[in-house]
Amino acid sequence: MFHRLLPIVTLLLCAGSAWSATNQCPDCGTTPVPYPLSTDPACGHQSYKIRCDAGAPIFDTVNNSYPIISIDPSIQRLVIKPAGLLSNTCVTSDMVHQGIQLNSSLPFNVTSSNTIMYLNCTDALLRSPLDCSSTSLCHAFINGTQNAAPCGKAPICCSFRTGGSTTSHMIRVRESGCSAYSSFVNLDPSLPVSRWPEPGLELQWAVPT
Ligand SMILES: *[C@@H]1O[C@H](CO)[C@@H](O)[C@H](O)[C@H]1NC(C)=O
Ligand SMILES: *[C@@H]1O[C@H](CO)[C@@H](O)[C@H](O)[C@H]1NC(C)=O
Ligand SMILES: *[C@@H]1O[C@H](CO)[C@@H](O)[C@H](O)[C@H]1NC(C)=O
Ligand SMILES: *[C@@H]1O[C@H](CO)[C@@H](O)[C@H](O)[C@H]1NC(C)=O
Ligand SMILES: *[C@@H]1O[C@H](CO)[C@@H](O)[C@H](O)[C@H]1NC(C)=O
Repeated sequence: MFHRLLPIVTLLLCAGSAWSATNQCPDCGTTPVPYPLSTDPACGHQSYKIRCDAGAPIFDTVNNSYPIISIDPSIQRLVIKPAGLLSNTCVTSDMVHQGIQLNSSLPFNVTSSNTIMYLNCTDALLRSPLDCSSTSLCHAFINGTQNAAPCGKAPICCSFRTGGSTTSHMIRVRESGCSAYSSFVNLDPSLPVSRWPEPGLELQWAVPT
């Protein structure tokens, strides 16, 4: 009896895995789109929507979007490219959207691997737990980054490592706080700025239930 059922069970198991394999979305340009990420209602998981725009993966936030630089499905993480500075200012282009605002109803959050440079801040930040001292890493960043030169005219900058609940869904930028930021994944602060990685913000997704 068992022997007669076995081929059927095997067949069903194979059909099952074939189905989940086809449920992965096609590559976006040359970038694989691992499950559960979804670029289309026909594939992936619909709580994990990203966008494929002309062969480039894009992460949509509440009112804005950011290019996806890399995706690592083995640790459920992806890295997005932060907004740049508006030319000759110390204001990031996403300030109009209050910086990076993730929808907290969705299964993505900011990991604790990011070092944020907050630039052009008001003195309200001096009462925050962030490092806004004269030895803060943000001063080295400004000094060592050509297009951040306008930020040298703004007196207060701060740096911090993400991971707290206040930054789990946003990197906030606003006039009453800081008007610009940058972010680095797994930054070794002992390295000179010339050896820092490209800016990036690492996000994590929860495994679908
Ligand atoms: C956040 O995501 C939920 C679930 O998909 C959606 O219903 C809601 O409209 C989104 N909110 C915003 C502000 O985009
Ligand atoms: C700093 O931010 C304020 C408020 O957004 C802006 O008006 C000012 O021009 C910025 N400073 C520089 C040097 O860009
Ligand atoms: C997003 O846009 C809507 C409509 O313009 C606005 O009401 C809302 O405050 C914006 N949210 C953020 C976080 O910028
Ligand atoms: C600023 O940068 C210059 C050259 O890039 C470097 O020689 C100098 O030590 C830096 N100063 C600070 C305070 O980091
Ligand atoms: C982010 O979500 C993961 C689950 O996917 C959770 O373990 C982690 O604590 C969350 N991090 C923050 C800062 O909320």
